[in-house]
Amino acid sequence: MRLLIMGPPGSGKGTQATLIKQAYQIPHISTGEMFRAAIQTGSALGVEAKKYIDHGELVPDDITIEIVKNRITEKDCHHGFLLDGFPRTLPQAVFLDRLLEKCRLQLDAVLNLEMDEEALVKRILGRRVCSNCGATYHVESIPSQVAGICDVCGGKLVMRKDDTEETIRLRLRIYRENTYPLMEYYAKKDLIKTVDGSCDIQTSFQAVVQILGGINDHHKK
Ligand code: AP5
Repeated sequence: MRLLIMGPPGSGKGTQATLIKQAYQIPHISTGEMFRAAIQTGSALGVEAKKYIDHGELVPDDITIEIVKNRITEKDCHHGFLLDGFPRTLPQAVFLDRLLEKCRLQLDAVLNLEMDEEALVKRILGRRVCSNCGATYHVESIPSQVAGICDVCGGKLVMRKDDTEETIRLRLRIYRENTYPLMEYYAKKDLIKTVDGSCDIQTSFQAVVQILGGINDHHKK
């Protein structure tokens, strides 16, 4: 299966993608995660990406397209992938279409997580991530067993640098202006499958499973 997962910041893309990856054994490719990993290693890519990410702005298309092109052509993606947070602009979507066309491949679905903006701000402000392994928690809905400590590796839980209220509001505006218009692009291709991101994690995931079950059935025919 070749899938995109889209939706505004905090709608649960990373959370649902982790569950999809486990259940369907397809690589989860998150451009946000790739940039954060590069920032942590201090690579040239990381230094460049940090200039944008910390302020909630989009990393320029040429840089983003290059990392996706390199990742998506790796061997583990030959039988499918789940792209999380890409594409976010029209040039990124056009690039992806051309790459898939060249390989005679098609997307199966675009999962669109929908949620009210004010609830998103509240949700993101409660997010904590492990500074060591990157596991994600939420102070109310998914707390760690010991406050501030990762259940998986014992690392320290921190807020992401771009999770301040001011930056979240900018990220939401950028989503509305640059990324939301892609819904029309993919609706014309009849690929959009909308999922309510505001319910609990398992309820949203059950909706995803139902959608993906339909796609698998279609492949078998
Ligand atoms: P990215 O990492 O993609 O950030 P984002 O799109 O802003 O999304 P988030 O990671 O904030 O949220 P999410 O939807 O994954 O939600 P999560 O599952 O964590 O990108 C970061 C930056 O990188 C961008 O701003 C940009 O600068 C750059 N970038 C990335 N891709 C780019 C591209 N293609 N082009 C240019 N620049 C790019 O959940 C959020 C919280 O809620 C967590 O605490 C979670 O535990 C909790 N939660 C999740 N689901 C539920 C639920 N159902 N109920 C209760 N709590 C829940």
